[in-house]
Amino acid sequence: MKIMVVGGGGREHAIIKKLKENKNITEIFALPGNGGMANDATLVNIGAKDIEGIVKFGVDNKIDYAVVAPDDPLVLGAVDELEKVGIKCFGPQKNAAIIEGSKVFSKNLMKKYNIPTAEYEVFDNKEDALKYLETAPIPTVIKADGLALGKGVIIAETREAAKEAVISMMEDKVFGDSGNNIVIEEFLTGPEVSVLSFTDGKTVVPMVSSMDHKRALDGDLGLNTGGMGTIAPNPYYTDEIAEICMKTIFLPTINAMNSEGRTFKGCLYFGLMLTPKGPKVIEYNCRFGDPETQVVLLLLESDLLTVMMATTNGTLADTEVKFKNGAAACVVMASSGYPAKYESGFELKIDASVANKVYVAGAKLENSILKTAGGRVLGVTDTADTLEEALKKAYSNVSKVEFENAFYRKDIGAKALKAKE
Ligand code: AMP
Ligand code: GLY
Repeated sequence: MKIMVVGGGGREHAIIKKLKENKNITEIFALPGNGGMANDATLVNIGAKDIEGIVKFGVDNKIDYAVVAPDDPLVLGAVDELEKVGIKCFGPQKNAAIIEGSKVFSKNLMKKYNIPTAEYEVFDNKEDALKYLETAPIPTVIKADGLALGKGVIIAETREAAKEAVISMMEDKVFGDSGNNIVIEEFLTGPEVSVLSFTDGKTVVPMVSSMDHKRALDGDLGLNTGGMGTIAPNPYYTDEIAEICMKTIFLPTINAMNSEGRTFKGCLYFGLMLTPKGPKVIEYNCRFGDPETQVVLLLLESDLLTVMMATTNGTLADTEVKFKNGAAACVVMASSGYPAKYESGFELKIDASVANKVYVAGAKLENSILKTAGGRVLGVTDTADTLEEALKKAYSNVSKVEFENAFYRKDIGAKALKAKE
């Protein structure tokens, strides 16, 4: 079988490495991939948003199955276009990917179907939003409606900051058209849990839970990033909470999407907050999380391609999805300055002894030399029986990766370890 994976980050590297365990796969193409995965896939210089190019490549190369991993191509309808030419895909169609593509859509969906989430108001103009903020409870949370590279959420601790956020989104258009509409919502508190799930639109199978670390610096300080590290399983996510989530969030969401005529197939990501009033949805993603995937797939025992194809074919109920016991950790190594300005182009040295534990996100090959080419450069992982041991091993692997200006958080998993005590 010939497979193509659309996307080029650490998540895609993890997906490709896991797919490679399937012996029926003869070749994997990464569109565009990155230089750091050149040993695992054939790199194809077609961007993840170039839907026409992706479809043409799929047809020309007789691709048997496509995995569309990032949000942009899913929201743009890559799956619909690939299916039109007869290529089966992992991922939702455009009308279901809107669950991530529009926060106004997802909030209204949750309200309509009684799925627990933060209270909210939607605004399509600055004046009404600013007026609402005169009396809104503070802190408050301002969210751009559309995709914004994971940066479209601002937590405002003061009324002034809230107003500035509205002006930056609706007047200055810092997120472009994504800020034409905004959601202003209740500030929630509690531990956060990421639950990725496989679904074929009928059955939903949650994967092992995980915890992201979004802030750039130790102690959850600094700017929000795409994610600086992950651990799995998330100790806050007990069996009891999992049962509540299945009943009040996971199944109701799948059913709601069906009722709306927007059947969701692929990976549905539930970003949850365990509030004093119970688990609530912070966000949905229509795809695998990054860097959650790097730890979750390490613990997946079943064959990934088989499970993915079951979501496409509607046979998930008859397919075994098994996870290993034990724990996994991922420490992201980034370029100094990320998520703001950073330099790249430095030689990246990954010791052979840890090469199979590293998922590369931002690198390119220049005359056969691997060089940094992004903010998040790579994720260094490991697994063990316990979280403590997995973290120790992952950090020890970090010391075997070298590039100029590297920085990483030293406290990935610290909160989780504390929670376990
Ligand atoms: P998102 O991009 O939607 O994942 O939001 C980024 C981060 O903002 C989340 O991981 C939360 O830490 C935080 N956040 C989003 N919505 C809320 C909320 N209603 N209350 C408190 N924190 C939130
Ligand atoms: N790590 C969060 C995300 O993928 O959106």
